Amino acid sequence: MTYEFIIVEPAFQDKVALIRLNRPKELNALNLQLMLELKDALKSLDQLENVSCIIITGNEQAFAAGADIKQMESKNAIDLLHIDQFETWDQIRKTKKPLIAAVNGFALGGGCELAMTCDMILAGESAKFGQPEIKLGIMPGAGGTQRLTKALGKAKAMELVLTGRFIGAHEACERGLINQVVPDELCLDEAVKLAKEIAQMSPVALQLAKESVLKAFESGLQEGLYFERKNFYLCFASDDQKEGMKAFVEKRKPEFKGK
Ligand code: CAA
Repeated sequence: MTYEFIIVEPAFQDKVALIRLNRPKELNALNLQLMLELKDALKSLDQLENVSCIIITGNEQAFAAGADIKQMESKNAIDLLHIDQFETWDQIRKTKKPLIAAVNGFALGGGCELAMTCDMILAGESAKFGQPEIKLGIMPGAGGTQRLTKALGKAKAMELVLTGRFIGAHEACERGLINQVVPDELCLDEAVKLAKEIAQMSPVALQLAKESVLKAFESGLQEGLYFERKNFYLCFASDDQKEGMKAFVEKRKPEFKGK
């Protein structure tokens, strides 16, 4: 399993596989190829009998700083409709084996959404979670408005989505977004501990139990995801999206005009 933007170790420890997001210079920004690689790796790991639990991690600086803004900057709504990147996200969400996100550093935008797509999240104490898309003149598009709201409740989710503020690992844990906060340097070790405990269970029971928990969590979600997706595309019809992303690339403050 050799890829350009992720490193996959199917036999990392016991029945635990590890996927490391690996675009360090770009803070693991999730470009389309990385997401396709991730989808492909998860599909393959799902089929391996000697894998019972999968950990997704990044590096010390970032789990992932979001979708790749430079790749999205020039796109319009119809480009996005054709690229259909969220089909990849839908497939990742359908992974049958338990997925644990081990988060150090930034988990922002699509990075936060990817962590939330996993079944459990462990974070180092310096980790930061947020949905800063609003600062780019857009909004979350890979489940952020839905999953964050289910996890944090309306008021806090609204604050994060409308201001783009970050929350730290301790607050994220107190509010139920993540499972556990650990010292930064122990994040992967603790994730492996949890994964090994899970990996001891019956693979059939794990699959059925995961499916059942997700069913409870996701009923009613689909409608919200489709609604969010259309509005995400619609953001790309605005001047503010162009301005927000251009300003990011030029490292200056954007001037939004509401058009
Ligand atoms: N896309 C593309 N490149 C990114 C990136 C992203 N999401 N995040 C960081 N990078 C790049 C930077 O452009 C920079 O590259 P250069 O050295 O070539 O300039 C490099 O990674 C390092 O980043 P910074 O210099 O900005 O690092 P910092 O420590 O000063 O700041 C940060 C870190 C606060 C995370 C900042 O990089 C940042 O705000 N990143 C963008 C976060 C964001 O807006 N994410 C949402 C993206 S949209 C999305 O995800 C849509 C969706 O829901 C699907």
